[in-house]
Amino acid sequence: MKTKKAYINTFGCQMNVYDTHRMENMLAAAGYATTDSFWRADLVIVNTCAIREKAVQKVYSFLGRICGIKRHKPGIILAVTGCVAQQQSQWLAERFAGVDLILGTHAVTRLVPYLEQLGPENRPIIDVAMRTEIDPPADDVAEKIENADISSFVTIMRGCDNFCTYCVVPYVRGRETSREPSRIHAEVEALVRAGAREVTLLGQNVNSYGKKEALCGFPELLRQIHDIEGLLRIRFVTSHPKDLSDGLIDAFAKLPKLANHVHLPVQSGANRILSKMNRRYTRDHYMQRVAALREARPDIAISTDFIAGFPTETEADFEDTIDLIQKVRFDTLFAFEYSDRPEAPAARFNGKIDSLEKKHRLRKILDVQADVTADIYHNLVGSTQTVLVEGKSKKPRQDIVEMSGRSSENRIVNFVCASSGLEKETDLMEGQLVNVHIERACANSLWGRFVPDTAGLKPAAPLSMKGGKTNAA
Ligand code: SAH
Ligand code: SF4
Ligand code: F3S
Repeated sequence: MKTKKAYINTFGCQMNVYDTHRMENMLAAAGYATTDSFWRADLVIVNTCAIREKAVQKVYSFLGRICGIKRHKPGIILAVTGCVAQQQSQWLAERFAGVDLILGTHAVTRLVPYLEQLGPENRPIIDVAMRTEIDPPADDVAEKIENADISSFVTIMRGCDNFCTYCVVPYVRGRETSREPSRIHAEVEALVRAGAREVTLLGQNVNSYGKKEALCGFPELLRQIHDIEGLLRIRFVTSHPKDLSDGLIDAFAKLPKLANHVHLPVQSGANRILSKMNRRYTRDHYMQRVAALREARPDIAISTDFIAGFPTETEADFEDTIDLIQKVRFDTLFAFEYSDRPEAPAARFNGKIDSLEKKHRLRKILDVQADVTADIYHNLVGSTQTVLVEGKSKKPRQDIVEMSGRSSENRIVNFVCASSGLEKETDLMEGQLVNVHIERACANSLWGRFVPDTAGLKPAAPLSMKGGKTNAA
């Protein structure tokens, strides 16, 4: 019987989402249920992100609110985990008197023992040690997962050695370390047994997986995972363009479960800026890798990240970025105004771009891409897409059950089952691959109708009870 309740608010990237799941599993074994109501929680965990100034501000304002509420509900335990905890532990302890536990990025596995140690006189407990071991002991709860999301995450490596000049990640996550392939395999198998049908393998630069430790390379890891029965799709993030190997491109040609999508952050279309960012590839190299990927998989969807207004970025550099967007025709992109991170070298670069100008450049990137995405999506109207169904759509229209999932290209597809005879059996669809005839393109999703030729819908394994809140990066 789970008597206590935990609420977790997750900021930042999939690394944090994965750590949140690990904490949920560990807490479940320790008698905590997750809740999505902060008010009912005995334990509140804020899993934090430090990637940009705005992300840190969001964390501070949330913590301020909770500390205010905690004055009226002093029994709540408040834990801060993740990248801001790693970076600002002392400051957090001084600024937010209500915080009981501060655990850095390598300490989340020690959450439960710390909860047990907490007494009135030893708050806050702070652990920001960067440990070398990456795999927890073999009997770790991560491999006894009871409920998994249809689309689940698995961290295959931690940290980053690339030191892009704008980026805080190497400082808050530590040096790059890869997990043993056998442990990753076992975890994916456990997730599939618990209901996962798709996994996303996580690392800041998956292409260098296993190199330092002389484990198998990333394409070989993909081949091993590909054999797992019941697993329908494999995704991965993130790929660094400098390390995107021919071996990985070959894997796209040979492994059908590998989704038809790659996230390949480019950051800028100008060689001078790429060099100042320490990205260690050129615009031409990037375009050449894109061409090779499209040769292996002609319809592959490519998404990317851009930083607008990196120090010294000129109008001409920015035009190179716009030109790259038009030439590559990304499926979608994320773009961010450059933000100084105190630890990162670019914070000390001259030639900072004015805030209004950064906003203007960001807007332009998003507008140019919106046209490209609209064009790609409109061309899909009339096609049939294979969708991994994740559940009911978030914004259903009145009286009609609308289901939602993603195509292999990672496009959100919402669909109705009207007049298919399956209107009442939509639950059976969760976790299945179904065909959807696309009838409409929306700004960030596609809409269509279920094509009732999907062979024998079978009940999927149980799905996880979700608690807390996620604020994607
Ligand atoms: N490892 C991944 C990215 C991780 S961070 C990679 O190498 O691409 C996610 C994105 O945040 C980055 O791709 C970058 O576009 C953005 N980002 C990182 N630091 C930033 C900063 N200081 N200012 C603005 N955007 C930043
Ligand atoms: Fe940051 Fe660069 Fe590492 Fe990505 S590769 S996490 S951008 S340092
Ligand atoms: Fe991820 Fe943010 Fe940390 S992007 S690695 S949670 S700084």
